[in-house]
Amino acid sequence: EQLRRRLQAMPKAELHIHIEGSLEPELIFELAQRNGISLAYPSVEALRQAYDFTDLQSFLDIYYAGASVLLTEQDFYDMTAAYLRRAAADNVRHAEIFFDPQTHTARGVPFGTAINGIWRACQEGPISASLIMCFLRHLPEEDALATLEQALPHRDKLIGVGLDSSEVGHPPEKFARVFERARELGLHLVAHAGEEGPPAYIDSALDVLHVERIDHGVRCLDDPQLVQRLARERMALTVCPLSNIKLRVFDVMGSHNLRRLLDAGLAATVNSDDPAYFGGYVNANYLAAFEALPLDERHARQLAVNSFEAAFLDADSKRAFL
Ligand code: HPA
Ligand code: ZN
Repeated sequence: EQLRRRLQAMPKAELHIHIEGSLEPELIFELAQRNGISLAYPSVEALRQAYDFTDLQSFLDIYYAGASVLLTEQDFYDMTAAYLRRAAADNVRHAEIFFDPQTHTARGVPFGTAINGIWRACQEGPISASLIMCFLRHLPEEDALATLEQALPHRDKLIGVGLDSSEVGHPPEKFARVFERARELGLHLVAHAGEEGPPAYIDSALDVLHVERIDHGVRCLDDPQLVQRLARERMALTVCPLSNIKLRVFDVMGSHNLRRLLDAGLAATVNSDDPAYFGGYVNANYLAAFEALPLDERHARQLAVNSFEAAFLDADSKRAFL
């Protein structure tokens, strides 16, 4: 109980949250009704019951279906404002939020509708927030390049680009050109790697894409040389414990490797990934990991410090938040 309060009260940054994954079933139903969309599930409870995943792809199918209720700028605003309120309640001081424009533009929702709604909510608080646009790796690089073009009028609303969706079979090097272009634009670079995919994808995210953080990255422990490199470079890993259990990257929380990552000297952080789908926001992730693993007060402090150190903030802001 004391641990719960300490984890709750600790100031933290959240660096791995897909805003479409914060869409709670209740809000999915509300937006469907508002937009005259009929859902494949009769009730909030029936939808929530469908959240029983066997791997990343089984989650992505239902996650993209959920996002299909987002049509207007107000919808994107309402979703984002709800996340920011929940993050603030968990003492998140700063969030770097992923969004997936292609999930929306592919349905005919304009790029501007999505980013303007999300951005307006971020401007209004109650916490500091910035935006990272993710490319869907199951689609061709040409689509990602076209998406980056669409983002140009909104350049000032973005701090970076990322890479998400189905990992295996879609290695980072597939997106070398679009990341090169994003780099020329001065955007920060991150990529999901080593969630379901092999350690080699972490290497190529670093060597080919030149990313500054690895999202997930938990499979790095399969490659001791890679671990040494990640430790030497203080490369941050945005670990998402509940996600890893729900998507069966690990069988149970007691076998999660978070403690081993920290022991190896890696800059691990704790994040929620898709909190509406995986059973909780960032504090629920800290708590689940700390209840199941040999982690103490010092690990908690280290994880929080890591979260600010890995954030795309200037040094003064980091100090002010901690
Ligand atoms: N991995 C890949 N793609 C995603 C995820 C994830 O954890 N969450 C939302 N899109
Ligand atoms: Zn993710």
